[in-house]
Amino acid sequence: MTLPDLGYGNGFVLEHLRPHLSDGSITGLDIAPAVLSAAQQRLHGTATPCRWIEGSADDLSMLGDAAFDRVMANYMIHYVPDLNRCFAEVRRVLRPGGIFQLTTDRTDSMLEMYEVHFAALMQMGAPKDLFRATPKGRLSLANGAPTLQTHFAQVRTAAWQDQLRFTDPGPFMRFYEVGHNHCCASSEPDDRLDEDFFRELRDRVRAQVQQAIDATGYFAVTKYTGSFLCS
Ligand SMILES: C[S@@+](CC[C@H](N)C(=O)[O-])C[C@H]1O[C@@H](n2cnc3c(N)ncnc32)[C@H](O)[C@@H]1O
Repeated sequence: MTLPDLGYGNGFVLEHLRPHLSDGSITGLDIAPAVLSAAQQRLHGTATPCRWIEGSADDLSMLGDAAFDRVMANYMIHYVPDLNRCFAEVRRVLRPGGIFQLTTDRTDSMLEMYEVHFAALMQMGAPKDLFRATPKGRLSLANGAPTLQTHFAQVRTAAWQDQLRFTDPGPFMRFYEVGHNHCCASSEPDDRLDEDFFRELRDRVRAQVQQAIDATGYFAVTKYTGSFLCS
C-alpha cells in the first residue's frame, strides 16, 4: 500500500505506521520545508520507500487519479487554506472504496492549556488580536462532517478522550511552546512580539502550571479528539 500523509510534521505517526507498510511506500506532503529532516531521521534506515513532497494539501496535482487506497491527514486540516479543494483532491487521488482518515480535535480540546495561555496574555495586556480563536474552529471534530459529506458518500466519526497529567512544568512547557507554538500566538511573524514578550508569557504560564501542581499534584490537559473515516 502507498500511503500519502498530508502534513506529515516530524514523521511521528509514519514512524509508528511504517512496520505495517513493509511492502508498501510512503508519500509525505508538508508545506514546511523545515520538517523534512526530522521526518527523514525518524524513517532513516527503513526499507519502506519514502517520497517527500513540499506543498499544500489543497493541491495534489503531482499525484495521479485513483492512485491510493488510503490517504491520511492528522492534526493539520485547520491550517489548509482551501478545504473544499483539498477534499476534492483527496477524493480524486483515492481509488473507489478507498478511505480518507482525517484526525482532528474538538475545539474544546486542551482547554486547560488555552486557559493558562489566555490568562497570561490578559495579565500582560497583550494585543487584542492574540485572543482570537485558534484556527481549529474552521474544521473540527464537532463541525467537520457536513463539509466532508459533500465530497464523500460515507463519513464515520470515531471519537476518543484522553488526559495528559503533568507533574512537572518542564514537559508541559515544551508541549505548549514547541508542540503548540504558544497556542499559535507566534504562527505569524510579527515585529511586536519579540523574545522578551515570549519569555514573559512563558514565565506567567509556567507559574500557573506550577500553582496547579502544588495544589493538586498535577496539571491536567484534557484532549477530545478523533478521526473522520471517509469513503
Ligand atoms: C500539528 S502538525 C501535525 C503533524 C503530524 N501530522 C502529526 O500528527 O504528528 C501540522 C503540520 O501541518 C503542516 N501544514 C500546515 N499547513 C499545511 C498545508 N496547507 N498543507 C500541508 N501541510 C501543512 C505543518 O507544516 C505541520 O507539519
